[in-house]
This record gives sequence, C-alpha cells and structure tokens, in this order.
Amino acid sequence: MSDERMLIVGGQRLEGVVHVSGGKNTAVAIIPATILSQTPCVIENLPDIEDVHVSIETLRYLGAMVEWNPQEGIMIVDSSTINRTDVPLELCRRMRASSYYIGALLARFGSAQVPLPGGCDIGRRPIDQHIKGMRALGAEVETCHGTVNARANCLTGNDVFMDMVTVGGTVNVMLAATHAEGLTTIYNAAKEPHIVDLANFLGSIGCRVKGAGTDVIRIRGNPNLAARRPYAVIPDQIETGTLMIAAAATHGDVTITGCIPTHMEALTAKLLEMGARVEDKDDAIRVRSIGAHRAVSFKTQVYPGFPTDLQQPMSALLCTATGTSTVVENIFESRFRHLAEMERMGANVRIYEQTAVIEGIPQLHSAAVEATDLRAGAALVIAGLMAQGTTEIYNTHFIDRGYEHLEKKLNSLGAQISRISD
Ligand code: EPZ
Repeated sequence: MSDERMLIVGGQRLEGVVHVSGGKNTAVAIIPATILSQTPCVIENLPDIEDVHVSIETLRYLGAMVEWNPQEGIMIVDSSTINRTDVPLELCRRMRASSYYIGALLARFGSAQVPLPGGCDIGRRPIDQHIKGMRALGAEVETCHGTVNARANCLTGNDVFMDMVTVGGTVNVMLAATHAEGLTTIYNAAKEPHIVDLANFLGSIGCRVKGAGTDVIRIRGNPNLAARRPYAVIPDQIETGTLMIAAAATHGDVTITGCIPTHMEALTAKLLEMGARVEDKDDAIRVRSIGAHRAVSFKTQVYPGFPTDLQQPMSALLCTATGTSTVVENIFESRFRHLAEMERMGANVRIYEQTAVIEGIPQLHSAAVEATDLRAGAALVIAGLMAQGTTEIYNTHFIDRGYEHLEKKLNSLGAQISRISD
C-alpha cells in the first residue's frame, strides 16, 4: 500500500452534481457469491477500490478466471477452474469480508480453510455467529492456529437464530445455505440494503430467497445455480451519506445522483434536524446548507437506524454545530479513535465509554492527522473540508479501501484536495 498523504485546503464550498459509485459492502459479498454459480457471472457497477482488488486477488488465487475492467466497473468470473479452497493469510488480513469465502467455498466444494479476517480496527469483531450458522447446517468447523477449517459432505437446511444482528454472519449463512438441502431459515437476520442486494443476486442465479430486508430470511438450497444475465450491484449507501455530510459541512449545494434515497432516511432526518435542507428525488438527493447547524444527538443502530459507518463522518460535522451533541456507538467497541485526531484540529470532545459528547466550536483549524480506519479517514476528510488552513491526512490507504476516487469527486464539486507520496 502506498504511503501517501492527502492535503485538503479547507473552506471551499462544495457545489454541483456528483455520481455515487457501486457499494463496497455489497460488492465484497456478491463477488464471493459468484463461486456458487456453475456458469460465468458478469457483475456490473463495481467500485474500483482496494477491497474489490483484494476480492479479485482471492478469486484468482483459488483458480477462478477473472476479467476486471475498472473503468467500466465490470467483472466476469468463471469459477469452474477453481482448484483449491484455502485463502492465504496476506489476503485475509486486508479485508473483513474475506470471511465470506468460508460460506461460499463450503457451499460449492464442501471445504474451506480461511484465516480469521482483518479489516478496520474498530472492535474485536469475532465470527462466532458465522461459525454457529455453518454448524447448524451440518458443517464441521474448527479454528486452529488462527485459521477456520470448515468441511461438509452435505449441508442440510435448518433454522439458524443469530444471537445478535450481524451483517457478516447473515451474509455467510446465506452463502452456505444456497447449497444446503431443503429450507434454511435465518432468524434475527440483518436487514441492510446489501443483504437485500445479495439476496437479489442469489435469486438471479436460481436460488429462491425470501424475506431479505426483514429479520427472517428463508433460503431453499439448490446445487445447480447458474448465472443467466449480468447483475449490477446497488449504489454505496455509505459513500452517499459521506457526500451528503460533506455538502452540509461546507454549506454547499450538492446533488448526489445514482443513489437510493430510501437507504439514507436516518441520516436525512438528522441533517434536517441540524437545519440543512435535503430533497429526495427518484435516484438522487440534493443537500443544501446555508446557516449555522444545530447540535443533534444520535445512537448507531442496525439498519434502518443510523448506520455505524456514518457515525465517524457525522461526528466531524457536529464539531462546529451550535450546542452540545451526543453520539452513542452501539455496534462496535472502539469506533471513536478519529475523535483524538479531530481534537488536534480544535474539536471539543469528551468520551464516556460508548458515548461521545461534542461541544460545538466556531471553527476547526488545520493539522496533520492520521486515519486509523476507513470511516475515520472519511471523518478527517470532512473535518479538513471544514477547517481553516490546509489539513494533512496520513494513512490514506484506509480511505482507498472503501471510497472510489473520493478526492476526484470532491474536487469536481470545488474542493481543493491533492496527494503527495512520502
Ligand atoms: C459489516 O461489518 C460492514 N462490513 C461494516 O462496514 C459495518 O460497520 C457493519 O457490517 C455494521 O453495519 C462489511 O460489510 C464488509 P457485524 P461486520 O457482523 O459484518 C459483532 C465499513 O466501514 N459480531 O454486523 O463485521 C461485531 O463484533 C465497515 O464499511 C459478533 O459478536 O459487522 C459487532 O460488534 C466497517 N459475532 C456487531 O456484532 C459475530 O459472529 C456487528 O457486526 C459477528 C459479529
């Protein structure tokens, strides 16, 4: 990963139209799911981001034939040539979604050896629920020396009750259940948009999935899955939200096209509460903001509540809101590390376990700050756009994991962002 710094000249008002990319978290679920198809899959609207690159490297390591056109966002996967079911540690360490290869390989080949995943350092992030679900379907799953070894002569549909709502756990059990004989019912399932997108993709290759988007998902196993048509992933909910927050943060006037406004309702409600103006159109959202913002409070929740992935960018916006804001992070144990970096920029924040209390100040000032994870990096970009002076952000590789050409998009709206390599 290149060691680059991002330089952001603060105070530029964002104005204009920007198109949102395909979703990171849906892409990293649907790409492993192509393993389930006996015919080549064509996936469209994929973002050109690090996590997609890792997914491609993983498929190629397994022996699949992958054609990737980053300009078009089109990937063609032929999994018929896969000749191994072990994923290397260096790939797993780079991406949380590497755990999805357990469910996909177990379903198609009855075997998977996948090291425990890496990904953003925002908490312990165990995969006990993933393993519980595989075992419920009849797989033998052991973790030895940091690697999950799963095998099954045949998978059998069953009821799986998730002890907590887990996006990754729901994805992994859905993938395994596609080849489990009979009916699998997942209770307490995650309802995020990318769960629905994965269900729609599975449906497009011949697997009957019902209830995605609710907390009960039913999947009827089918060993003969085959792609018949290209599948385009949904737009990125979190990139959409990040761009909405950037528009408000710079008191700009930005229209985000190619998005799904109903995915953004929790954030839209908070931006309206702060005094910004948000207008939903069919596949676009316009965000304008002229006056001072009012402080607001929110708690991160599973979908459709306020997304934990937008907690960090939103906390940057709250730093200059008028009054005291309270942010409660209910999903991950340590997702406030960006606040220490924003204190270098003058933010007035106090943290009490899972609660951050943010006292609004008139203006942030620039500083040299470090991204500690993907969405922390996004929060620092928002802070840099707001700050007086030029902010330097180190560890920009975190940002490149989940945002496709973020500074290019922001510069097209009037931002002044550049990169320099160390
Ligand atoms: C997915 O992570 C996303 N990543 C995260 O986005 C997102 O923040 C998260 O869902 C919540 O929406 C991808 O989709 C690749 P979880 P995931 O399983 O699946 C605990 C980003 O910035 N848990 O829903 O890891 C877990 O520790 C990333 O794009 C268990 O205890 O999230 C957490 O506290 C960051 N056991 C909570 O559940 C398990 O087996 C929710 O985790 C699984 C999870």
